[in-house]
Amino acid sequence: MPTNTQVLLDHRPTGKVSPACFRIVEAPVPAPGPGEILVRHTFLSLDPYMRGRLSDAKSYAKPQEVGAVMGGGTVGVVEASNNPRFKLGDAVVGMGGWQRYSLSDGAMLRVVDAKAIPVQAYLGSLGMPGVTAWYGLNKIIAPKAGETVLVSAATGAVGSVVGQLAKNAGARPVGIAGGKEKCAYAVKELGYGACVDHKSPTFADELKAALPDGIDGLFENVGGEPFQLALRRLNDFSRVAICGLIASYEAAPTALPDMRIFLVKRIKMEGFIVSDHMDLWPQAIGELAALAAANKLKWRETIRDGLEAAPQALVDLLHGQNFGKMLVRVD
Ligand SMILES: NC(=O)c1ccc[n+]([C@@H]2O[C@H](COP(=O)([O-])OP(=O)(O)OC[C@H]3O[C@@H](n4cnc5c(N)ncnc54)[C@H](OP(=O)(O)O)[C@@H]3O)[C@@H](O)[C@H]2O)c1
Repeated sequence: MPTNTQVLLDHRPTGKVSPACFRIVEAPVPAPGPGEILVRHTFLSLDPYMRGRLSDAKSYAKPQEVGAVMGGGTVGVVEASNNPRFKLGDAVVGMGGWQRYSLSDGAMLRVVDAKAIPVQAYLGSLGMPGVTAWYGLNKIIAPKAGETVLVSAATGAVGSVVGQLAKNAGARPVGIAGGKEKCAYAVKELGYGACVDHKSPTFADELKAALPDGIDGLFENVGGEPFQLALRRLNDFSRVAICGLIASYEAAPTALPDMRIFLVKRIKMEGFIVSDHMDLWPQAIGELAALAAANKLKWRETIRDGLEAAPQALVDLLHGQNFGKMLVRVD
């Protein structure tokens, strides 16, 4: 008899999150009620926002409940359905959480084409991170041909898409990434004009050298010192999209420098949350899927096996141990 392996939040972290904050249990596989669908997950998405949900501080989303199944994006297969919109065997993407099976009423569940594209891409480049890249780049930075766009966490789930979209728009994407291997991949595979290793002892000089024309668009995924250095290189009328500040999720907050630069250089800086723009998701996913079908969108994945591996995988994601989209293979 199959059981439903589940990962629960056992207690909130007081400092850095560790696997000890989670508890793994076996529960019966639930039976779908009227209008419900039973989904067996094949992949779970691990995302930096999950760190924020572990805290009960006020934020844009409700905190993760202690003792409940961890929330998270999933792809899977319909195992049973009492809903006419979903049939047995459909590949679906939803918010099934850190567990093997979930029930859905269909509201947050979407059937996807898993034949042409590996299904887990709907958790990465063709999913929430891809839409995040699309929104921040197109709606906040709006790059013009010939402009320079700097992208931090350049090879990650969001950053890898930003770089490629910026290049398609005729801009010159420049990346910041952790380590030589990630930087080489950014330039050779993702089309960045240059990529600077933030772990290099001469990072500040290398960043300056990679930005001979300054920065017109800054897509910020990380925060911390590299962000503060980047702010110094912003051009007049540049745009800064604050997407994430992962360096500060478990460390000191990222401070702003003298605000005078925003005035003198007429800089626009805007934070955004992709779930505020659900109306634009179909357009964004449509454009990203078309690029993927034409082999014009590349991505990498770091895949860990088994739900038991999910807590450590989250810790590793928060410490830059992923190379591309962080996923857990569920079956
Ligand atoms: N605003 C929104 O709606 C929205 C939606 C999705 C994601 N986000 C944000 O976008 C950012 C990227 O998310 P993602 O899912 O694409 O993750 P990701 O980039 O695939 O993974 C996180 C990466 O952050 C980099 N990093 C740099 N400095 C770090 C530090 N001090 N500590 C930890 N990691 C560091 C690491 O790459 P290197 O080794 O290359 O440095 C790490 O691999 C995150 O800040 C996330 O919160 C925002």
